[in-house]
Amino acid sequence: MSTTKATQIVLSSRPRGKPRLADFRLEETEIPVPGPGQLLLRVQYLSLDPYMRGRMDDRESYAPPTPLGGVMPGEAVAKVVASHHPAFTEGDTVTAYTGWRTQAISDGANLRKVDPDLSPVTTRLGVLGMPGFTAYSGLNAIGKPAPGETVVVAAASGPVGSLVGQLARIAGAKAVGIAGGSEKCAYAKNDLAFDAAVDHKTPDFAARLAAACPNGIDVYFENVGGAVWQAVLPLLNKFARVPVSGLVAQYNAIEAGEGADHLPATMRAILTKSLTVRGFINFEFVSEYYDAFLREVGDGIASGRIRYREDFVDGLENAPKAFIGMLEGHNFGKLIVRVDRDLNDDSDKTGK
Ligand SMILES: NC(=O)c1ccc[n+]([C@@H]2O[C@H](COP(=O)([O-])OP(=O)(O)OC[C@H]3O[C@@H](n4cnc5c(N)ncnc54)[C@H](OP(=O)(O)O)[C@@H]3O)[C@@H](O)[C@H]2O)c1
Repeated sequence: MSTTKATQIVLSSRPRGKPRLADFRLEETEIPVPGPGQLLLRVQYLSLDPYMRGRMDDRESYAPPTPLGGVMPGEAVAKVVASHHPAFTEGDTVTAYTGWRTQAISDGANLRKVDPDLSPVTTRLGVLGMPGFTAYSGLNAIGKPAPGETVVVAAASGPVGSLVGQLARIAGAKAVGIAGGSEKCAYAKNDLAFDAAVDHKTPDFAARLAAACPNGIDVYFENVGGAVWQAVLPLLNKFARVPVSGLVAQYNAIEAGEGADHLPATMRAILTKSLTVRGFINFEFVSEYYDAFLREVGDGIASGRIRYREDFVDGLENAPKAFIGMLEGHNFGKLIVRVDRDLNDDSDKTGK
């Protein structure tokens, strides 16, 4: 990486279906100079998240699409390298929505200072960051698991799903994870102490899931949609709760409504089983749940009761390939790009 230039990755074309490397373009720019009230950030770690796929499309969502030629959006852990802002000094570590770039200017809005002594800084992008908060808030505000109930979550080795299952167990519920492949299932069961883990890639997945949930499902934390949702639907108990967090199985779909129309069966189940199905975006719950999340999950990490896994990729230039792979399950744990090795401390070696 050049130290005299900044690098950024922009959206060069809108994907149709699965993104291709050609949909991204790497650009070199001058290192920006902070003006009055601004600061310059050097990105240390960049988070790659499924929501970024939605921003590549030109359609209405909870956030505007990335314009063609615009820098791909994303949150990062960054170091303040120059500051004309009263609240930040050179050397501070922060989380910031820098996008996919090596250097960024900020006016201080939406920056959060990170104390590297509390937990490895990379946790602020995963278990103690936006994905972890999604798990915590969706489960507490909508899922509300009671002792003895069964909670099911897919993408169970990722930052959202892994915390959902562990929090369900802490609440006294039974946690059943769904993941792609035997290695991820073994991790959910053995390392994260889920009660059971089921591989959604096996041909008899629906029967295996039913066998893992002999008392039905009381909370299904929806991360993926698609075939997993079809297997879950008949197992939902009366008054089951379904926090709809994400639909990653559908993010690369070309046309909405392809294949069989499952809506009538879904609506019938919602009616006859008195289901609560509620979509949410994590930031809707910040005022009510954020402080408790940091305290409880922070304590859980410190005590070793809550575990997490991080999957590192080196170099901003490798972000597009890693991102495309994540949408198909090639990541194993929270996917993070080490953007600047010179800034790296040992925090990325301590993921548990
Ligand atoms: N609502 C919110 O505020 C919010 C915030 C953050 C994240 N989310 C959502 O939460 C979900 C999980 O996010 P994450 O960051 O924890 O991602 P992640 O687990 O690190 O990565 C996505 C995972 O999805 C799984 N997957 C992909 N295609 C699948 C398919 N067809 N069927 C089943 N599983 C599939 C893969 O795991 P396997 O290999 O195990 O299949 C893949 O590793 C996503 O839907 C995301 O959009 C929502």
